[in-house]
Amino acid sequence: MDTRADTYFGNVADSYDRLQPILSPPYSKGLDMLVELIPFGPNDRFDFVDLGCGTAEPAIRVLEHFCNATGTCVDSDPEMLAIATPKVVPYSGRIELRHSDMVSFQVPACDVAFSAKAFHHVAPEDLQDLFARIADALSPGGCFILFDTMSLGPKWGTHAQAQASRFRQRHRQIAVASGLATQQEIDARMEFKRAMKAAGKDTEYEHSAEYMVDLMKKVGFAEVAIVWRIFSDTIIVAFTSAGGLGSFRQQRGLP
Ligand SMILES: C[S@@+](CC[C@H](N)C(=O)[O-])C[C@H]1O[C@@H](n2cnc3c(N)ncnc32)[C@H](O)[C@@H]1O
Repeated sequence: MDTRADTYFGNVADSYDRLQPILSPPYSKGLDMLVELIPFGPNDRFDFVDLGCGTAEPAIRVLEHFCNATGTCVDSDPEMLAIATPKVVPYSGRIELRHSDMVSFQVPACDVAFSAKAFHHVAPEDLQDLFARIADALSPGGCFILFDTMSLGPKWGTHAQAQASRFRQRHRQIAVASGLATQQEIDARMEFKRAMKAAGKDTEYEHSAEYMVDLMKKVGFAEVAIVWRIFSDTIIVAFTSAGGLGSFRQQRGLP
């Protein structure tokens, strides 16, 4: 594969939307769940922030489901944002794309913040400050939904990794048999990822869900829970003040 950009995502942006659901079996289900977990009704007005928005797949699902939601989406990769730009045209006036590193991004005031499959690129030493900025930006009782790969505990981690690998393998075989991708392009993509990692251009960290939960509590989130998991793919929901969903809706006068 020719390397046009200097980053992994910069090079795979063109095929990201087609291959990501094939390479990562829980991806699509996780995005469905993320939308389900947003504590608003379909006609409610609210502001959201998407951190590491990529090609805007998660944000578009949110805009489709919540017709009065408005959002700010940030990503550090210009090629991913270039794919996102024409896709968000039908939602113009409701979404703003920003090119920035979320580690230093001034998170705008919002009711809901979320991130899908991006925090495993954030170094452990930057997580606490980032969670604190998200908590500060959220309105009282606001909600942060974090969907990402999170490492599994030592006792069953190795066993689960082997199961997850078989699950991925079967999922990819079905995709190839259905004509959604070829085995060659899947192999080429995995090889390219390995090469970019070895070259230090695709850094991933193994944060555990328990570590993330502890950090969120430490920066002041009042109610934090792991609410969904398929092997290492995990969703954590965190509310900024006690009372969770009930208090969130009550403070906004929602039924
Ligand atoms: C696996 S993709 C996920 C994209 C999108 N959230 C989705 O679910 O399809 C990870 C994204 O995180 C972005 N990213 C990684 N580190 C980042 C950072 N420090 N600041 C902003 N974006 C970042 C990458 O550029 C990439 O677009």
